[in-house]
Amino acid sequence: MRERTLGRQGLTVSAMGYGSMGINLAYGPADEEEGVAAIRHAHELGVTFFDTAELYGWGANERVVGRAVRPFRDDVVIATKFGFTRDYGYDSRPDHIREVVDNSLRHLGVDHIDVLYQHRVDPAVPIEDVVGTMSEFVDAGKVKYLGLSEAGPETLRLAHTVHPISVLQTEYSLFAREVEQLFPTLDELGIGLVAYSPLARGFLTGAVKPAGQYDVTDARHSGSGAFPWWEEGNFEKNVEAVARLTEFAVSKGVTMSELALAWVLAQGQHVVPIPGSRNPGRVAQNIAAVGIELTQDDLARIKEILPHGGHGARAADTPAWI
Ligand SMILES: NC(=O)c1ccc[n+]([C@@H]2O[C@H](COP(=O)([O-])OP(=O)(O)OC[C@H]3O[C@@H](n4cnc5c(N)ncnc54)[C@H](OP(=O)(O)O)[C@@H]3O)[C@@H](O)[C@H]2O)c1
Repeated sequence: MRERTLGRQGLTVSAMGYGSMGINLAYGPADEEEGVAAIRHAHELGVTFFDTAELYGWGANERVVGRAVRPFRDDVVIATKFGFTRDYGYDSRPDHIREVVDNSLRHLGVDHIDVLYQHRVDPAVPIEDVVGTMSEFVDAGKVKYLGLSEAGPETLRLAHTVHPISVLQTEYSLFAREVEQLFPTLDELGIGLVAYSPLARGFLTGAVKPAGQYDVTDARHSGSGAFPWWEEGNFEKNVEAVARLTEFAVSKGVTMSELALAWVLAQGQHVVPIPGSRNPGRVAQNIAAVGIELTQDDLARIKEILPHGGHGARAADTPAWI
C-alpha cells in the first residue's frame, strides 16, 4: 500500500483510510462482528488509518475500533473526534473536551490517540481555547497530531497560530466539491485533507437506491430529509450522472466505487479518502482504487460528466464556510 504524508508534522498513513461510522451510525442496521472483520481485512490489505468518533455511538464505535485493531495497534493510526452533545448540539468547552478525550482513550483501550479532531466548530468557544486544550493532550503524550473537521479558512488560520493543525477532515467526493475552495489555504498552512464520505454516502457505488428503499433507521431514508442528493428532482439527475460515470468506469475495467475513490486520490498527494464499508469484500474493492491511475484525459471525461458535483446540497446541515 502506498503512503501519504498529511501536514508538515510527519503524520504518514496509507493512501486509503477506513471510516468506521457505519458500523454504529447512519446507514441502518449493522453487525459489530462484521465491522471488526471489515477493519481487520482493511489492515490485512495495507490500511493503516482508522477513523472513529465519540459521536458514533457514544463510545460504542470507539470500542469496536479499539478491539479490532488491538492485535496490531502499534502499526496503525487511530483518529477520533470530540465536540457533540447527546442531543447533537456542539460543545467544545475545555472541560468537555478533557472529559471526552479521557473517555475516548478508555473506549479505544489505548494510551494515546494518534489524531484528535474537533468534530464541528463550536461558535460559542474561541478556536484558540479549543486548540489550546487539545494541545494539553499533546504535551502529556496522549495525542500525537491535531485536526479539525468542517472548519473554514479563518478557523484554520487561527487554530494554526496556537498549535500546528496537521489535517482537515471534510466531505469530499465527485458529488461534494466545496472543499476545493480551501485548497490554497491548506497548501499555504501545510495541512493535509482527509476526505470523508468519498463515495457520497454510497451514491457513487453500484448500490444506490431511492430514499424510500433504505431501512427506516438509515439517514438516507426519505423520512429524514438529511441528504438532498436523494430528494425528488435531484435523485434522478444524480442517478443519470452515475450511470454515465459507471459506463466510463466499465470501459476502463474498474467499478464505479473504484473510479470515485481513484478520482479523490488524483486530486493531490495531500488527500487521503476514508471510505466506510461494513463488508470485508467491499472494503477490498475500495482499497483496490489505490492501484488505479487516472490520466488527464480520464479526469477531463469525468469533469465533462459532472462539472460541479452532485445535484443538490451535500447535506442538510451545511457548515458556515460553504
Ligand atoms: N467528520 C465528519 O463529520 C464525518 C461525517 C461523515 C463521515 N465521516 C467519516 O467518513 C467515513 C466515510 O464516510 P461515510 O461512511 O459517510 O460514506 P461513504 O464512505 O461515502 O459511503 C458509505 C456507504 O457506501 C457503502 N459502500 C462502501 N463501499 C462500497 C462499495 N465498494 N460498493 C457498494 N457500496 C459501498 C456503504 O455500505 P456498506 O457499509 O454496507 O458497505 C455505506 O452505505 C465515515 O465512516 C466516518 O469515519 C466523518
